[in-house]
Amino acid sequence: MSLTLREALAASPLPRLEAHLLWQRVLGVPRAWLIAHDADSLEPAKIDAYRTLEARRLAGEPIAYILGHREFFGRDFLVTPAVLIPRPDTELLVECGLRAIRDVREPHVLDLGTGSGIVAVTLALERPDARVRATDQSAEALDVAQKNARVLGAKLLFSFGNWYDTELGSKQFDLIVSNPPYIDARDAHLGRGDLRFEPRDALTDGADGLRDLREIVRGAPDHLSPGGILCVEHGWDQAAAVRSLFLRQGFADVASERDLSGIERVTRGCMPT
Ligand SMILES: C[S@@+](CC[C@H](N)C(=O)[O-])C[C@H]1O[C@@H](n2cnc3c(N)ncnc32)[C@H](O)[C@@H]1O
Repeated sequence: MSLTLREALAASPLPRLEAHLLWQRVLGVPRAWLIAHDADSLEPAKIDAYRTLEARRLAGEPIAYILGHREFFGRDFLVTPAVLIPRPDTELLVECGLRAIRDVREPHVLDLGTGSGIVAVTLALERPDARVRATDQSAEALDVAQKNARVLGAKLLFSFGNWYDTELGSKQFDLIVSNPPYIDARDAHLGRGDLRFEPRDALTDGADGLRDLREIVRGAPDHLSPGGILCVEHGWDQAAAVRSLFLRQGFADVASERDLSGIERVTRGCMPT
């Protein structure tokens, strides 16, 4: 049966934006084309291809994994089920990092738990003079991050391993950034929505949500230069606990930054000089 795009869109149970994204993928066209050509007849093979993607979405698979990419800080990043789907919230971490190295020439930067590489690659592209190193304990994630760096033309070094346990050298970084797993392992959200499809090790530390943050804050003084800055992303209710971790570790100028909803989502601190 022949169907126009308009009829196919009207018949789809998906929200209009998601249906558009899937049709863009199937037809290989931009969104404006879909709108201008919605009276065109669709080939049966294209309708079948759309229905396959639609069924995956209806089964709950995140749209970013179906499409294989997601925008972050104005750039398009490859994503696979091996990595966390980039969140707009993480742009706050990048902004905090960029401010921290604003006055440092050729800064040495470390991104712990790089996943798809969004933070490290963005910092490297926004500050081409920076020497950026990115680590992860997932080889599959490092593979995705390396592809993103290559496609986007960012120069950085990658290390595999558990947080600082990757021969990083000591006291050399002007900036350490991290968006670690910080969801409490008992949080029911882990079994809902997109989170069901994302790597569990990228979401939760398997404990109270602060275990990896503790390890990152505790290890930072051995790797930061005097005056070096640590910026970490954390959950909406963790800012006070994370500030205490920073203070206990001897950081100065400890402060949390709020996202657009006014929630403290990133905490930073400076190593005394
Ligand atoms: C919340 S995801 C963040 C990914 C990416 N930085 C982002 O913002 O989208 C946390 C990342 O930390 C990595 N990770 C978890 N435990 C780790 C560990 N012990 N050592 C190094 N990386 C770890 C995970 O593999 C995952 O890629």
